[in-house]
Amino acid sequence: MNGKEAAGKEAIREVRDGMTVGLGTGSTVYYFLQALAGKVASGLKITGVATSTKTIELAESWKIPMKSLNDVDHIDVTVDGADECDAALDGIKGGGGALLYEKLVAEASDRRVWIVDSRKYVDQLGHFPLPVEVVPFGWKKVYTRLKQDGHRPELRRNDAGKTYVTDAGHYILDLHLDRIPDAGALADKLDHITGVVEHGLFVGMTDTILIGYPDGHVDTLNRD
Ligand code: A5P
Repeated sequence: MNGKEAAGKEAIREVRDGMTVGLGTGSTVYYFLQALAGKVASGLKITGVATSTKTIELAESWKIPMKSLNDVDHIDVTVDGADECDAALDGIKGGGGALLYEKLVAEASDRRVWIVDSRKYVDQLGHFPLPVEVVPFGWKKVYTRLKQDGHRPELRRNDAGKTYVTDAGHYILDLHLDRIPDAGALADKLDHITGVVEHGLFVGMTDTILIGYPDGHVDTLNRD
């Protein structure tokens, strides 16, 4: 057992028969999907809505019934990972590049639950580089603007050294900020830069965080 597995398995308590469930992306969500697939195999009836092609592939290989976001009225609960989160239940997402679809699915959800291992629960957001998804056209202009503002952007590359391209066909600039004193203010600023499609700051968008520890226990953090 590790913290990711503990949190991922615990999140199955969020799912009830008949629900439409948003399925996040990443190595922590993997354990949730595994547990969910086990329940589906035993007769649980749910419909999944994925946040990435990786998650669709995994869910379909495990025979979880899926629909696209366009084909559902609403989502009852979404379970997703995060790269960093804090006591205000704000966080950084997008380390795996799925931030745009993750935010779209989160916004369509009645309830949002994050699953993280304990190392991701921090006093101050910003040590993890903040992903900013940008349109390929003119991306260097956005890069220069962010650099001039002191945000230390870096174009994300894949393992082969090529420019990383998201599921939606965009690029990602990772901002090496070290600390984000005011997540709301930075989110607002990024929301207003032309060429920025979305960013990985999720502010006030999560109801519960399940924090898993290596010994298998899980703490629950709820929004008041
Ligand atoms: C995907 O783009 C991310 O937002 C993930 O949810 C996040 O990076 C957590 O991933 P892990 O569970 O793999 O650490």
